[in-house]
Amino acid sequence: MDLRIYSDYKELSKEAAKLIMNVVNANPTGLLCLAAGHTPVGIYKCLVDFAREGKVDFSRCKFVSLDEWVGLGMQDEGSCIKFMHDNLFNPLGILESNIAFFNGQASDLELECKRIDEFVFKNGPIDVVLLGIGINGHIGFNEPGSAFDAYSHVAILDEITKEVGKKYFPVQRQLEKGLTLGIKHFLEARNVILVASGAGKAEIIKKTVESPPDTSLPATALKLHNNFYLLLDKEAASLL
Ligand code: PGA
Repeated sequence: MDLRIYSDYKELSKEAAKLIMNVVNANPTGLLCLAAGHTPVGIYKCLVDFAREGKVDFSRCKFVSLDEWVGLGMQDEGSCIKFMHDNLFNPLGILESNIAFFNGQASDLELECKRIDEFVFKNGPIDVVLLGIGINGHIGFNEPGSAFDAYSHVAILDEITKEVGKKYFPVQRQLEKGLTLGIKHFLEARNVILVASGAGKAEIIKKTVESPPDTSLPATALKLHNNFYLLLDKEAASLL
């Protein structure tokens, strides 16, 4: 585990973006899996700036989604697909043909998971996975108890995820399930970056750093990865 602590959110975002840029510059046709959520917003701003400055070119990269809320799609504020288009894919001008995203409204969710797995097997391994962390230790929708050897699957959302998730939606939603890449995808990726910011994440970061790999705390699985970067701002690292 490569633990890096930065003075604030701005620096954290810039350094995480630089790591991703370096991966893309080393392999401009690589496969990327980048998380939706509040923490990566600053990283995506930096990536868009880097691309506009000509420092990196994402046009030949492929993108696979990390996760999606079951029932939601592009038209829904708060869906992962809309978030990624608004914050990254549209500003970068990424072609839809280079994006494979979970359809949270698919009639057959198991088949949808297979479709995404097949995309990863065909285009992978994933060059870089960027993850946030939930206050229950989830990564993507791999909730506490998720197997480390699972690929994409339908997840029953943890109570904490449902409660905290309200922050993403302008209208109240009854969300019970998610679609997510599995931990096995992360362990088979070339690089994994987990970012956390703010005092609200300090407790779960302390637990993640101190606990051995255990399915009760999904983020600890990443310690089994040889190229795992844990990037924190000072506040998220304040209990270490
Ligand atoms: P956040 O989400 O970046 O909005 O805090 C993290 C997560 O739940 O994975």
